[in-house]
Amino acid sequence: MKILILDDAGAASARAAGLIADHVREKPETVLGLATGGTMEAVYAHLIALHRAGEVSFAGVSSFNLDEYVGLAGDHPCSYRRYMAEKLFDQIDMAPGAGHLPKGEAEDPEAEADAYEAKIVAAGDLDLQLLGLGQNGHIGFNEPTSSLSSLTRLKTLTRSTREANSRFFPAGEEPPRLAITMGIGTIMRAREVLLVATGEAKAEAVEQVVEGAVSARWPGSILQMHRKATLILDRAAACRLELTDYYMDVHPE
Ligand code: F6R
Repeated sequence: MKILILDDAGAASARAAGLIADHVREKPETVLGLATGGTMEAVYAHLIALHRAGEVSFAGVSSFNLDEYVGLAGDHPCSYRRYMAEKLFDQIDMAPGAGHLPKGEAEDPEAEADAYEAKIVAAGDLDLQLLGLGQNGHIGFNEPTSSLSSLTRLKTLTRSTREANSRFFPAGEEPPRLAITMGIGTIMRAREVLLVATGEAKAEAVEQVVEGAVSARWPGSILQMHRKATLILDRAAACRLELTDYYMDVHPE
């Protein structure tokens, strides 16, 4: 794993956006795997700025998001489809329909999960998967004890994930209990993975994922087995790492 430690969240998100833009410039028909959540908002803001400055075009890009809440239609204000439309798709030049998410409102969510997995396979799998990190170590909505070879499926969210995400829901409305999420096996098939974690609340998860044992207890730790995984951290998220001097020595920039 390549561990990059930046001064703060702003620098970390700018670096992540820069790496994504480099990738798209090199391969304009890139198949991106995308994430939602607070950390990604800044990454997408930087990508939009790069696009507006004429530095990158997404016209040939297609994408698959990691996850969607079961029961939320795409036009629900808290759905991830709506998040992606507002925070990225509608502000760049991606072709209409090129951004895929699981359908949260599908009548048969299990069949939808299988169909979503098949769509990713048909697209030739993901070139670059962008990931955030849950405080409990989840990637996508693969909560602790998820099978490390799982495919896209339904997952029950932990109480801590629902509490963390309730900040995106209006008062009195709670995040759904179930989500459709790409599996860990799906994510691991991506040819390259880029995880971004910022803030002290992520420090324990970062410690476990980077320097702990590979274990379903901390699902992100599976990235230790990925051939091309880059983790972009800020100092706060990296504050519990033991080998920081080494990481800074290898990648001083
Ligand atoms: C969202 C997702 C999640 C988030 C994670 C971190 O699509 O897959 O794994 O990346 O929960 O969320 P934030 O950035 O809000 O802390």
